[in-house]
Amino acid sequence: MNEASLGGPHPGNASRAPDAAHASPEPARASGEPGGLVLHATDVRKSFRQGPVTLEVLRGANLAVAGGERVAIVGASGSGKTTLLQILGGLDRPTAGRVLVAGEDIHRLDEQARGRLRNRAIGFVYQFHHLLPEFSALENVAMPLLVRRAPVAEARARARELLERVGLGERLTHRPHQLSGGERQRAAVARALVTQPRIVLADEPTGNLDGTNAEQVFALMLELNRERGTSLVVVTHDTRLAARMERILTLEQGMLLGEGYPAVEAGRRTR
Ligand SMILES: Nc1ncnc2c1ncn2[C@@H]1O[C@H](COP(=O)(O)OP(=O)(O)OP(=O)(O)O)[C@@H](O)[C@H]1O
Ligand SMILES: [Mg+2]
Repeated sequence: MNEASLGGPHPGNASRAPDAAHASPEPARASGEPGGLVLHATDVRKSFRQGPVTLEVLRGANLAVAGGERVAIVGASGSGKTTLLQILGGLDRPTAGRVLVAGEDIHRLDEQARGRLRNRAIGFVYQFHHLLPEFSALENVAMPLLVRRAPVAEARARARELLERVGLGERLTHRPHQLSGGERQRAAVARALVTQPRIVLADEPTGNLDGTNAEQVFALMLELNRERGTSLVVVTHDTRLAARMERILTLEQGMLLGEGYPAVEAGRRTR
């Protein structure tokens, strides 16, 4: 990982700031799916019933992400960012709406097929790491590869490489409870990236990390984006991190509003 790779947005990105969340990305990035989209969510709604009250968290969110695109999602605490990301990743069902991942309607698949699609196409970084407590860091990171029946030696070698890249080369045999909060989060990022997914959905991936470690984790995601065309959808409160994505969308009143990052940096909201 070199310093140059930690730099700002890619050349030419400044000109790419569609002003609506559902604006069509450039056809040049076509990736085999309809319209070249790796992720296409349409009119996603989610309500939670709490006794007599129905809480409408998502009220028609739209999102189209092309192969190789980087998108940040920002929004107030409780605005529904985690809820949305989990629906996009097939971890929770929407009340209404449709989510296509690599061209497949993830919520219409049975559980097994949904699991396969997730393993094949999505790397998910949870807001809270969700590492398996009884396994070591190395085993946790190798797990998605073992699930897809990769040879054990290869899975372990790849997991070690990823852990080294997030600075955990000396913590391979540690169990999650023997890692610090930031180390757990870095291991969780390594686990999400180990399969070289088509798209990474990351929920505050650097939330528990200090500046140096946040930089390291984010640099790894950017490398994957650059080298393999992995799309990134990152929920973050970190404006520096958000500014290095191509689009910044704000979740507000249950919908994703698009805006360019200068508006966010200036603390302005535009509709
Ligand atoms: N299972 C649930 N049952 C009832 N309400 C829920 C459930 N999950 C989430 N909510 C509510 O939905 C709203 C959005 O929650 P969510 O976790 O998506 O917010 P968030 O934008 O990720 O917030 P934060 O930035 O604090 O992580 C919150 O008001 C929360 O209380
Ligand atoms: Mg959240």
